[in-house]
Amino acid sequence: MPKIKIEGGHKLSGTITISGAKNSVVALIPAAILCDETVTISNVPDITDVDDLEKILIHLNAKIERETGKVVINSSDIINKEITEDLSKKLRASYYFMGALLGKFNKVDMYFPGGCAIGARPINLHLKGFELLGAKITEEDNHFIIEADKLKGNNIYLDFPSVGATINIMLAAVKAKGKTIIDNAAQEPEIVNIATFLNNMGAKIKGAGTSTITITGVKYLHSCFHEVIPDRIEAGTYLIIGSLLGHNLKIDNMIPNHLEALIAKLTEAGVDMEIGLDNIVIKEPKEYTATDIKTLVYPGFPTDLQQVMVTFLTQCNGKSSVEETIYENRFQNIKELRKMGAKAKVRKDNRKASIKGKVDLVGTDVSATDLRGGASLLVAALIASGVTNIDNISYILRGYDKIVEKLTNVGAKIEII
Ligand code: EPU
Repeated sequence: MPKIKIEGGHKLSGTITISGAKNSVVALIPAAILCDETVTISNVPDITDVDDLEKILIHLNAKIERETGKVVINSSDIINKEITEDLSKKLRASYYFMGALLGKFNKVDMYFPGGCAIGARPINLHLKGFELLGAKITEEDNHFIIEADKLKGNNIYLDFPSVGATINIMLAAVKAKGKTIIDNAAQEPEIVNIATFLNNMGAKIKGAGTSTITITGVKYLHSCFHEVIPDRIEAGTYLIIGSLLGHNLKIDNMIPNHLEALIAKLTEAGVDMEIGLDNIVIKEPKEYTATDIKTLVYPGFPTDLQQVMVTFLTQCNGKSSVEETIYENRFQNIKELRKMGAKAKVRKDNRKASIKGKVDLVGTDVSATDLRGGASLLVAALIASGVTNIDNISYILRGYDKIVEKLTNVGAKIEII
């Protein structure tokens, strides 16, 4: 099994260019099948989640051409057959085929999605939305058949502003008859990116980025060209790395506005950064002060940066606390960080951790427990003394485009062995 080997302690200088957002592209690709013509998506990151979605498209007989940073998708000859359990389970975002196939054919046949084991991650809100649009759901042993004679717009209130449910309902409603209103919708930038893509094809979606989204059904969706927004979680990860090791390190092609909560917290800890229109420069690391973090839905502190932030907090003087409110099981990385010398404890209910700093981390053998947990170990390895070998790296490669190349280019000693 390949591992990532890192020799820690090297200063990082130069420019890291941020790729297209994983959590946007993984919805855009399934959304593309709703188009009645050909769509082109650019700024596509080279990550294994995209490879897995491509496999599903090929399985459904869609035509997909992929070249560096671009995919062209034509779904004219798509066959609406069962998405096998193996394909459904490869990633979380396979669930976007539920909304997309239901919206296109009024029927979908697939299994419960996969993804990192960071909590139970039910899909009850997605299913509630489909039912309110007129679909009937048959479920047996994680196998779902969702079908409707006709989808009809409705008012849908989400008990929680779920990213996945908001996007899935938009996908199912875009060609439904009449008007759908999603209340308490998620407001993440990825939602806006998907709505813009659908609107570029001729959909009528208003309010994306607010808590109320209105979708007026249309009959036909035409060809379009669309660009994936920069990955705010990738940018945030490199910003944290830069805060610890950057000497005139520029994080480029990012949207600082999408990271307000992280920037506020890093500033509170003492990080000095120059914020440009589409980049942030970190001049040099400083002594940092402990701070408290609580994950929230956007625009609050993103759960997807919580684990990497824990590594940052091991380098802050004093005691920090981190509260995870989105997922029940997102502190698995702490056990591995402790092997490197981190002084961190997780409360029994798995919802809160305390971190004591500053400690000198030491390289050793660790194992990625999930995507962002893997990233937190990678950041720890970059600052640790000696060599760290990270196992289970498929988690990391699921979501970080060219991570070894990007870090090598700015002076890190990192390789896949
Ligand atoms: N939830 C429900 N019922 C539902 C849907 C969600 O109870 O029907 C709960 C979940 O169990 C969780 C919370 O609501 O506790 C948030 O879930 P949400 O639906 O918002 O998340 P998601 O769509 O499953 C996406 C990203 C995650 C990211 C979250 C929150 C994708 C493929 N995944 O997940 O990304 O953490 O939104 O921003 O877009 C990652 O990139 O590492 C990652 C896990």
